[in-house]
Amino acid sequence: MDDAQLYQPVRGDFCEEGIAGPCGLVIFGASGDLVSRKLLPALFALRARGLIPPDFYLLGFARSPFADESFRANVREDLRACCPQADSAAVADFVAACYYLQGDYARTADYAALRGRLTELDSRHRTRGHHLFYLATPPHLFGQVVRSLHQAGLITSPSDPAWTRVLVEKPFGRDLASATALDQALRQVLDESQIYRIDHYLAKDTVQNLLVFRFANAVFEPLWNRRFIDHVQITVAESIGIEERVGYFEQAGLLRDMFQNHLLQVLAMVAMEPPLSFEADKVRDERVRLFQAIRRLSPEDLDRCFVRGQYTAGEIDGRPVLGYRQEAGVAPDSRRETFVAARLFIDNWRWYGVPFYLRTGKRLPRRVSEVAIVFRQVPYSVFAPLTSAELRPNVLVMNVQPEEGVSLSLQIKSPGPHLCLATVNMDFTYREVFGHQPPDAYQRLLLDCMLGDQTLFVRHDDMEVTWSLLTPVLEAWEARGEPFPYPAGTWGPPEADRLLAEDGRAWRLAGSL
Ligand code: BG6
Repeated sequence: MDDAQLYQPVRGDFCEEGIAGPCGLVIFGASGDLVSRKLLPALFALRARGLIPPDFYLLGFARSPFADESFRANVREDLRACCPQADSAAVADFVAACYYLQGDYARTADYAALRGRLTELDSRHRTRGHHLFYLATPPHLFGQVVRSLHQAGLITSPSDPAWTRVLVEKPFGRDLASATALDQALRQVLDESQIYRIDHYLAKDTVQNLLVFRFANAVFEPLWNRRFIDHVQITVAESIGIEERVGYFEQAGLLRDMFQNHLLQVLAMVAMEPPLSFEADKVRDERVRLFQAIRRLSPEDLDRCFVRGQYTAGEIDGRPVLGYRQEAGVAPDSRRETFVAARLFIDNWRWYGVPFYLRTGKRLPRRVSEVAIVFRQVPYSVFAPLTSAELRPNVLVMNVQPEEGVSLSLQIKSPGPHLCLATVNMDFTYREVFGHQPPDAYQRLLLDCMLGDQTLFVRHDDMEVTWSLLTPVLEAWEARGEPFPYPAGTWGPPEADRLLAEDGRAWRLAGSL
């Protein structure tokens, strides 16, 4: 059977899902928690759904001293924890295709050993030399790893029938200069078509649904512009703090951790122009165009349009929690932001003058991610004495998580002899309609990479333009000022409310479908 036959899509009424062809997946940094939390459950689910073929193996590579058997014991334990209902034969089958190679990322000899191991596994699992290298290591090792793979002859050319693809986890740089340098290191040995930069928000079903909703329904797109939309609110709130990631977070802060990537990508899905087709580069061209249209801010505007906050001690779900500066390992005078709110404008014909308010934070009251499209008010009220300002605008809420769904608020006449208006919601949730919530984003990412589909991955120009937009903000924050404090368990500092209040608006209560 050749590759073309293996890539036959499975067709349902409205769906098309590709089945990956044979390949070997090598995970660098295989002893990290991303593997147990995200990658193993996703790979196992893909196998269970028949989307990864039997001609597949997983090779972990890291410094920790494991042998195949001890690595397999960990994999078994992780699968038991994530998927307690899993069939034991399926677990045994999956585990049998897992291997481990201890190695030092900087040692040439270890890459020679890797090459030998891959040759042996490729033949045992009939994977035709197709390799997917997953870099789940700290970013400063990315350049080193791909250079060493290249020197070991493990990176094929894009025209070679045996493909090489490299998946890169974020953070991808910490500003424009470092992201560009990192990218150059990758692109010295890899073609752009071989690089898969992850932003897992792009792979969330509900984020992809933004495009389906807009471009597979005729009713919304005519309204999707400055004539009908008053403003847009994007909220990505988390109730967790920084967990075990103090070292990383003290370096990064929330603008780098969430805003430069997840929030801007969601914004692009809401606001981009229709792509010519759903091909990777057509979609990515439009995302980049959208980012290019975001208004650059002068240094004075930065303070008016970006608000940063840092949580102080407070309560989450009735339990007291520490403030950021009291967390173990955090400097007592740390200025790292744990909250960011911004007002952005998109200078093009569709959106000119429509504010996009974005906010994200740690230790907010609950975990909720949503996009709210707030439509304009009716121009004139025929329901005197009610004025048009008193008639509530329609709001379309796309709930990304945790209760994935869509809701549209409408004004209706409430029953009875008097003319009374009420607001009702027309809504659906994925759980009600499909009986379950959408699969984890990592399933989509891993499968798409195996299929060679880059639509949901970040292209280098996309990454450059988002960093160029935000690097001045980071520089201004490094140079002066402090984040505004907010008690844990609240919706951020009052300054974030002021951002909207000075435009005569207010944040919606996020999570109320
Ligand atoms: C990661 C961030 O990219 O996304 C984390 O580094 C954050 O800080 C996480 O908690 C949120 O992802 P999700 O899918 O749980 O919303």
